[in-house]
Amino acid sequence: MRHVREEDLQELSLLDRESFPEEPYPYFVLRQMFDVYPDHLLVLDDGTALMGYVLCGTAPDLSRSWVLGLGITPDERGQGFGRLLMEEALRRLRGLGVREVVLTVAPANKTAILLYENLGFVGEPTLHENYFGPGADRLLMRLRLSRPGFG
Ligand SMILES: CC(C)(COP(=O)(O)OP(=O)(O)OC[C@H]1O[C@@H](n2cnc3c(N)ncnc32)[C@H](O)[C@@H]1OP(=O)(O)O)[C@@H](O)C(=O)NCCC(=O)NCCS
Repeated sequence: MRHVREEDLQELSLLDRESFPEEPYPYFVLRQMFDVYPDHLLVLDDGTALMGYVLCGTAPDLSRSWVLGLGITPDERGQGFGRLLMEEALRRLRGLGVREVVLTVAPANKTAILLYENLGFVGEPTLHENYFGPGADRLLMRLRLSRPGFG
């Protein structure tokens, strides 16, 4: 696991397309995410290819960080890599002093919801209808982070 590098961006874009075939980030958005959040874009690299990524966006006052993307290449799913990336991202956010982590997930994405619940995220009771436009409802999930050494 390592930080993304500029030369990874084309491959990262392909990985994102594999992860979200219907709604990938346009390349320019990934490029700008890299520009804005270079320290919060982690990739899993097996030495020959990228297997997964996680991207977080953190408020300057550290009150909140959003998980903006998490994807594992289809051939490598179900082996614990998604959990590994999320655990490392959360560990780093906790170390920075971020107090809350928020994410959105499609209500039908049961695998992702289970992963987030197992990490301690709690879904809001009400679905946000049309959150990402018409018909694109999303569940918001939140996790309170405690500071290291404070339970
Ligand atoms: C969601 C995703 C990142 C999970 O990554 P992964 O590496 O396959 O998941 P892991 O092997 O780390 O498993 C994590 C948890 O998911 C659950 N899970 C994994 N595969 C599953 C499956 N096929 N069916 C049901 N649950 C599954 C397990 O309960 C596991 O929980 P545990 O580790 O607490 O026991 C991956 O499936 C993916 O890239 N999906 C497409 C993009 C996406 O939906 N991203 C999330 C958007 S919010």
